[in-house]
Amino acid sequence: MKKHLLLLCLILPLVGCYYDSEELLYGTTECATENVTYSADVLPLIVDNCYGCHDASSNFGGVTLEGYDRLRTYVDNGELLGAIRHTPGFSPMPKNEPQLVECNIEKIAAWVAAGAPND
Ligand code: HEC
Repeated sequence: MKKHLLLLCLILPLVGCYYDSEELLYGTTECATENVTYSADVLPLIVDNCYGCHDASSNFGGVTLEGYDRLRTYVDNGELLGAIRHTPGFSPMPKNEPQLVECNIEKIAAWVAAGAPND
């Protein structure tokens, strides 16, 4: 028992340090998710990363994300966030390419959480 306590005393400060350094590493790289809009933030991300397969003429997998109304369909059924977050049960997108960087996923998620306005 005493040995376990000693071990805890040794480990706890280490854990503390670990979280401190993580804060240092990631705390400064801020991701601005306020004032995200469809036209300035979401649309360019979808155009750059998704239109290659999901504009109206490509329509891969029968999925068209071109235009607010069609993108909105995938917002409302949860597939947009499921796909870009690589949530189990959804096809991970963009297909066969690296996942979007975390900040861009957060921006799209913030827009969805705000009711996905056509702004
Ligand atoms: C290289 C082509 C390609 C790219 C790039 C791509 N997709 Fe897809 N997407 C597909 C195909 C093909 C399907 C049909 C399902 C499958 O084959 O996985 C699909 C299916 C989907 C679906 C339906 C989800 C489901 O679970 O079936 C959504 C939503 C989607 N894509 C969103 C996106 C978004 C958002 C992007 C950009 C971040 C993107 N896709 C980029 C090819 C692509």
